[in-house]
Amino acid sequence: MKLNFDKIGKSVIATAREAGSLIQKERESFTSDQISTKGLHDFVTNVDKASEEFIYSKLKNLIPNAGFLAEEQTNEVLGDVYKWIVDPLDGTTNFIHGLYPYSVSIALLREDKVILGVIYEVGADEVFYAWEGTPAYCNGNKIKVSKTALLKDSLIATGFPYSNFSKLNAFIESMVYFMKNSHGLRRLGSAATDLAYLARGDFDAFYEYDLSPWDVAAGVFIVQQAGGKLSDFSGGNDYIFGKEIIASNDLLRDEFYSTIHKFMEDSVSN
Ligand code: IPD
Ligand code: CA
Ligand code: CA
Repeated sequence: MKLNFDKIGKSVIATAREAGSLIQKERESFTSDQISTKGLHDFVTNVDKASEEFIYSKLKNLIPNAGFLAEEQTNEVLGDVYKWIVDPLDGTTNFIHGLYPYSVSIALLREDKVILGVIYEVGADEVFYAWEGTPAYCNGNKIKVSKTALLKDSLIATGFPYSNFSKLNAFIESMVYFMKNSHGLRRLGSAATDLAYLARGDFDAFYEYDLSPWDVAAGVFIVQQAGGKLSDFSGGNDYIFGKEIIASNDLLRDEFYSTIHKFMEDSVSN
């Protein structure tokens, strides 16, 4: 069956925007008794689940037999060739505290390759997207990664682990290095948004460990289509399922990668 990705992409953008409106509406009356705990500092709300149910109801008819993998596992479908990977609300801790950014993130994979990514950041009403054969866009405008060539001139995004502290010492050492050798570090609280902003050139580089496929699948594709480079901490391609990601513009890639590799590769600490 021949799929029309322009049509599918537009539907996914509409779905991400509608899920974002649902999240915004729920935020107005949100109270702390809507929060449950999945693990140490790992929260979920009925809004994450409602957003996921809504996204599933829209995507399930878009591509017949497509799989569906989403963070809250409200509907898990194995599928065949195509698979949706969805984070219905990336930045739940921000959402709980009434702080932006938080996003809806939807990726489509063919076999193991991402071919479509849509991220809708709710607070700024910005949708970032790309699909096979297109450049990356934000709200209809083409976006590109930055042209910053040296680490000393770069702004770096990251995320702090909240339960897996296995690489914490190495991670802190890497942050100390970046504090001394870059324009600085930011922790926005939504990995999908970090990648979208990197694709637009707001950040020059991003790294984090212990992320899940739904945090990064859409973002890595948008970064690639915007001219960025990606790897895991050992230079390989296992950055969607492998729980380690390095992303940057192309000019900074070697310097940024070798710095992360030096601190993070093979590190186990407490
Ligand atoms: C989290 C965010 C955060 C990252 C965490 C993720 P969630 O996703 O992306 O930036 O540091 O590791 O789990 O739980 O808010 O969907
Ligand atoms: Ca997430
Ligand atoms: Ca989430």
